[in-house]
Amino acid sequence: MNKHQIEKVAVIGAGLMGHGIALEIAAAGYHVNLYDVTEDILDTARKNIDYGLQKLVDSGKIKVDQVSKTKSLIKTSDDLVNQLRDVDLVIEAAPENVSIKQDLFKKFGELCPSHTILASNTSSLKPSLYAEHSNRPDKVLVMHYANPPHLVPLVEIVRSDKTSDATLNIAKAFIEDIGKNVIVVNKEVEGFILNRLQIALLRESLWLVENGITDIEGVDKAIKYCTGRRWAFAGIFEVWELAGWDTIGNIYREVAPTLASKPDIPKPLKNLLDQGFFGSKSGRGFYKSDENWTDSVKTRIAKGLASFK
Ligand SMILES: NC(=O)c1ccc[n+]([C@@H]2O[C@H](COP(=O)([O-])OP(=O)(O)OC[C@H]3O[C@@H](n4cnc5c(N)ncnc54)[C@H](O)[C@@H]3O)[C@@H](O)[C@H]2O)c1
Repeated sequence: MNKHQIEKVAVIGAGLMGHGIALEIAAAGYHVNLYDVTEDILDTARKNIDYGLQKLVDSGKIKVDQVSKTKSLIKTSDDLVNQLRDVDLVIEAAPENVSIKQDLFKKFGELCPSHTILASNTSSLKPSLYAEHSNRPDKVLVMHYANPPHLVPLVEIVRSDKTSDATLNIAKAFIEDIGKNVIVVNKEVEGFILNRLQIALLRESLWLVENGITDIEGVDKAIKYCTGRRWAFAGIFEVWELAGWDTIGNIYREVAPTLASKPDIPKPLKNLLDQGFFGSKSGRGFYKSDENWTDSVKTRIAKGLASFK
């Protein structure tokens, strides 16, 4: 066993997130068992892994001779019993549905060795909602990756009040060992840190659009060319430490009372949802997000992320 006691990992769910999580862990030299419900889905996952590895080679993140080694470390199968038999860590990346997660954590508890740590990549579901369904709530936590998981260098680790310090320390050391930054979320809360920040920004962005202050391109420009550009290098506290908190305090007093604060889904988003316009996956959202649009934005994001050290 190495310093964090993890040698073999199972990734359960090989979709958008699962295939990327599997490829990154294998690229760091670990054995990965990748499971999904059918061989057809696993076939798509294998193609996505090939594509993702090629992008890592193109951007100089890995060497070309690492590709076949990485692929040889990933064992794909639709046999859950075999995929869980001998792993030290499970990362669940199945759909965001609490009953699917409860059912899976029950199976993990029954099928994994007793030392195995059980993690979910859920975006928002608190670990206590499914930890009790396993037979080891002290070994359950959230490892929340962001998309694309092999390029965004951050994982949120969220503990429930049952998660042991030993589990947290092993999980943190493992994620740091594969080259990620870690934020430990000490108290479980809906949306953790990343999605609380992003939904707060989205709520205000939709308010600006709904009230005709700007349009979606205006909001996206504000983020792409100003706030987001600075935030790629320094956090909000660092940036505003430079601006001066007296100035920020004055702006806060002026602006905060006027900010959007209603819990309902704002009208521009509700209209989209009612029409089934879910963005790239349905070819239309706020943008006309057809295949060309989707490819060009995905490539822009991947190139930008890969250019960071
Ligand atoms: N999409 C994102 O940007 C993002 C970011 C961070 C976290 N997440 C979270 O990651 C998880 C997966 O999201 P995704 O975007 O990869 O979804 P996805 O739909 O692309 O992938 C989910 C996969 O789970 C498989 N699956 C369905 N039922 C299953 C079961 N019972 N057991 C195992 N696998 C099953 C599906 O076949 C599919 O391949 C969700 O909890 C989501 O909230 C998503």
